[in-house]
Amino acid sequence: MTNSALQTAILFVCLGNICRSPLAEGVFRHVVEKAGRQDQYFLDSAATGSWHVGNPPDSRSIAVARSHDIDLTAQRCRQLCADDFNRFDLIIGMDRSNISNITRLKPAASRSEIQMFMPYALGRNVEIPDPYTEGPEGFEHVYQMILEASKALLQKTA
Ligand code: 4NP
Repeated sequence: MTNSALQTAILFVCLGNICRSPLAEGVFRHVVEKAGRQDQYFLDSAATGSWHVGNPPDSRSIAVARSHDIDLTAQRCRQLCADDFNRFDLIIGMDRSNISNITRLKPAASRSEIQMFMPYALGRNVEIPDPYTEGPEGFEHVYQMILEASKALLQKTA
């Protein structure tokens, strides 16, 4: 654990950090809080791309989260940086393209573990698809995948 001896530091990463990874951060935080384990985790999310830096999550991610009593409105997009590979124990990408982008940026000395969310949490070789060009049902589908993976991640990091 690189953040603190008592905490596991997890960074959720996607391409834009406005749709999937802010939702993953918010949903996993919610699952952790429901379990009363918020002191055990340091959580954040980031983008491999720079297009949306400083922006709040996509309104469709905010809406689907809100419909499940999760508030994403305080989150802001930031880009993955070299220091993240020192600060986080686990860097979780949503799809294979995220994993290759993250791996390309990883400094040689980093000890962060890089994993894809569904295969790591559930042992299922499935990507969480980019919902950017989808309607609300695409965001609900992604929410359900992230929720299932988050519950499994909580057990796996117990
Ligand atoms: P995300 O979705 O990676 O889940 O945040 C995207 C959001 C924006 C873009 C691509 C993916 N974009 O190209 O602007």
